[in-house]
Order: sequence, then C-alpha cells, then structure tokens
Amino acid sequence: PRKIIIDTDPGQDDAVAILLALASPELRVLGLTAVAGNVPLRLTQRNARVIVELSGKSVPVFAGCEHPLERVLETAEHVHGKSGLDGIVLPEPTLPLDPRHAVDFIIDTLRAEAPGTVTLCPLGPLTNIATAFRRAPDVVDRVQEIVLMGGGFFEGGNITPAAEFNIYVDPEAADIVLRCGRPITVIPLDCTHKALTTRARVERFRALGTRAGEAVASWLDFFERFDVEKYGSEGGPLHDPCVIAYLLKPELFHGRLCNVEVETRSELTRGMTVADWWGVTDRPRNATWVRDLDAEGYFALLTDRIAAL
Ligand code: BDR
Ligand code: CA
Repeated sequence: PRKIIIDTDPGQDDAVAILLALASPELRVLGLTAVAGNVPLRLTQRNARVIVELSGKSVPVFAGCEHPLERVLETAEHVHGKSGLDGIVLPEPTLPLDPRHAVDFIIDTLRAEAPGTVTLCPLGPLTNIATAFRRAPDVVDRVQEIVLMGGGFFEGGNITPAAEFNIYVDPEAADIVLRCGRPITVIPLDCTHKALTTRARVERFRALGTRAGEAVASWLDFFERFDVEKYGSEGGPLHDPCVIAYLLKPELFHGRLCNVEVETRSELTRGMTVADWWGVTDRPRNATWVRDLDAEGYFALLTDRIAAL
C-alpha cells in the first residue's frame, strides 16, 4: 500500500477524508498530524482521535502547530460548529495523543522511510508541513508527492472574495510548500465546489446502517447547512475527501500542470492562489491544478468505502 501522512484540522470534511483513507486497503496511513485551522489545535487533535476511534483502526495522532507561521490564527466555527465536528455527539476518545510533536513525526518519518515513498496529504493550513520543511530541509527531497486541498482561482475564495480558507490562514506556509520543488497536486475550490452533498448522496451514507455511515450523514447534514442557507445551493462542497479520492482514483479528476503562486503581501488578496492555467507566463510549472471531478463517481467511491468500516 501507498504510505501517507494526513495533516488535518478536523472539520467534518476532514473527518470523511480520514475515514475514506482508513477504509482503503490501497493506503497505509502512517499517522494523523493535527494542525490549528477550522478550530484551535486542542480541538483538532481531539477530533482526529475521535475519528480514528470511530473507524475502529489504529493510527497514531500527533498535535502540531498551534498558530500560523506569522499570522494570528483565524478559525471557522461559523462553518464547522463550536467543536469543529458538530452534527453528532460521539464518545470522548480513549486513544491517547502521541507525545511526539507532529512536526517531529513528519521529519522522523520522512528520514526513516525509503526516499520517495511517503505522500503528504494536507487538509488544513500548511503550517506543520512548512515548519518541517524549514526545520529539516533534507526531508523535502524525500517526499514522494504532496496532494493538498486548498486554494481557488476560477471560483474565487470562500473566506475572502479572493482566498480559500486553508491558504488564507497561513499564506506564508503555503508559499513555502508551493515552492518546495516536489510534485504537488492542488485540489482547489474550483474542483470541490462540484462535489456537492445532495440529499440523495447524504441519505446513501445514512442507509448504510453503520455507525460510520450515521456519523458521516450527520456531519454532512450539519456541514451543508452553511452553504444551503447562505447560498441556496443544493448541498455543501465536500472538500477534503477529494485529496484521498484523488490518490485512489485519479481518473475521477481532471487538472493541468501549471505555475501556482500565493499572494502573501496584499491585505486585499492575502492568500489568493494564482494559477497560470493558460500558460501565459514562463514561470515554473510547480503544481497540478485540479479543476474538475466526476461527482457521481466520487460519492460512489465514498459510500462504497465507508460501508466497509
Ligand atoms: C477547507 O477549509 C476547511 O474549512 C475545510 O475543512 C477545508 O479543508 C475548505 O476551504
Ligand atoms: Ca480541512
């Protein structure tokens, strides 16, 4: 199986991504590294442990950075609720937090595993990954690939008119990661806004009749109300599981290798990701920018795999 580290700020959509990964035999999740994002770190690390416990699998959970590299932390309780994982009450986790710092775990793992065999899957602000790259530059070349959820260009932003939440929260970290020189796939709002949780899709999770299916359906009911109420849309965009689905079935997605850079200086467009989709510059093509997905295939994959938990 392909070895991955999931760096995450759960988050209902992070939770579904984690369950998808843990349910998939093609992947070996080496660890979950929590970062501050949707809610503060003390909640994201707790939520990560709740999710692992729900899955019935055993994966270590590490707590990482409490604040962005240079900015004050901004959170998203308006989307995810006070706990970050509102929608269903799950038991307090008995799985203890691993005492090692998430950044140390990332560095040690990349040094211990054979070069080019560990893929990083960031689902939140990029603070942990950038800190690891800054502290231990030798590990960068050992990364197989980075597949991340963040950014938006054709769709604009979701936290400011220009910026997507994960990149906005820590633009300096995103800049470090985007310039790291390893293969990067970016799954932005341009793609995830096509992955809407319609009624029928949510009910398919509930109809599984399992604890995991019930939890996913309840999380999505909660998560989508933000977009449904605010924008009158059909459902909420199920962002983060796209990263894991991309590893499992890349044929569900469509993107293009191009130059992607992040704005760190402007106050107005802080955290905006600029994708040179049309190749109008000759700046280096540092990332595959994913613009499209087969939504039916994506939700079929999700229900199928979650059913196995
Ligand atoms: C991203 O921000 C978070 O709220 C979600 O978990 C997702 O990672 C979407 O902008
Ligand atoms: Ca997230």
